[in-house]
Amino acid sequence: MNIHSSRDTYASAPLLEGEVAADPIEQLQRWLDEAYAVQEIREPNAMCLSTVDREGRVSSRMVLLRGLDGRGLTFYTSYFSRKAHAIEAHPRVAVAFYWPALHRQVRVEGTAAPLSEDESDAYFASRPRGHQLGAWASEQSERIEDRATLAERMAHFEERFEGDDVPRPHSWGGYLIAPTYLEFWQGQPNRLHDRLAYERDGRRWSIARLQP
Ligand SMILES: Cc1cc2nc3c(=O)[nH]c(=O)nc-3n(C[C@H](O)[C@H](O)[C@H](O)COP(=O)(O)O)c2cc1C
Repeated sequence: MNIHSSRDTYASAPLLEGEVAADPIEQLQRWLDEAYAVQEIREPNAMCLSTVDREGRVSSRMVLLRGLDGRGLTFYTSYFSRKAHAIEAHPRVAVAFYWPALHRQVRVEGTAAPLSEDESDAYFASRPRGHQLGAWASEQSERIEDRATLAERMAHFEERFEGDDVPRPHSWGGYLIAPTYLEFWQGQPNRLHDRLAYERDGRRWSIARLQP
């Protein structure tokens, strides 16, 4: 495959001001629903999360969106991870979704804060047992000697919680990203793409069209 010259043609219905929701969260929900309806899109809730650490270094990684409501976007992770330390230093984060089959991108910017213990407990309880044990076994973002050590840690926690519910480790939980900016990008022919940007204007959202 030649990266230099490979090109996709984007021929989709245009994104029009008169057709999008006044509330960008509702618009994101619509696009997520549409992405879930496309069979070839796996994990439409996967999003690239960018953070800035204490030294001003930007880093990005994928996480899974696990909740979307009037407050914003929710994801779960380790509170001791590299991303968590960065959020502690700089709570402003950015997120990007990309659904190639729909020629769509969504960008979100906002402020991340830990979710309530109750919400994290409830989500942790809904996870498969293996994932729950994995959260105990992995000290996310820390170095580890080898894969066998991780397997040993997993075996240790399987034994420790045998016959019991697995409680949520305090090192693990959710974040809520309260958005201040959302941008919806719809690919169009000749690279004349649609971009509609929502910006918080007090309690309301303003919508502006941006050049592609
Ligand atoms: C599709 C996909 C989804 C992921 N979802 C999560 C997630 O929801 N939470 C998480 O902590 N890591 C998730 N990861 C792993 C992260 O990308 C990352 O490796 C991990 O969180 C450690 O990042 P950090 O060291 O920057 O904190 C996912 C990775 C991929 C590829």
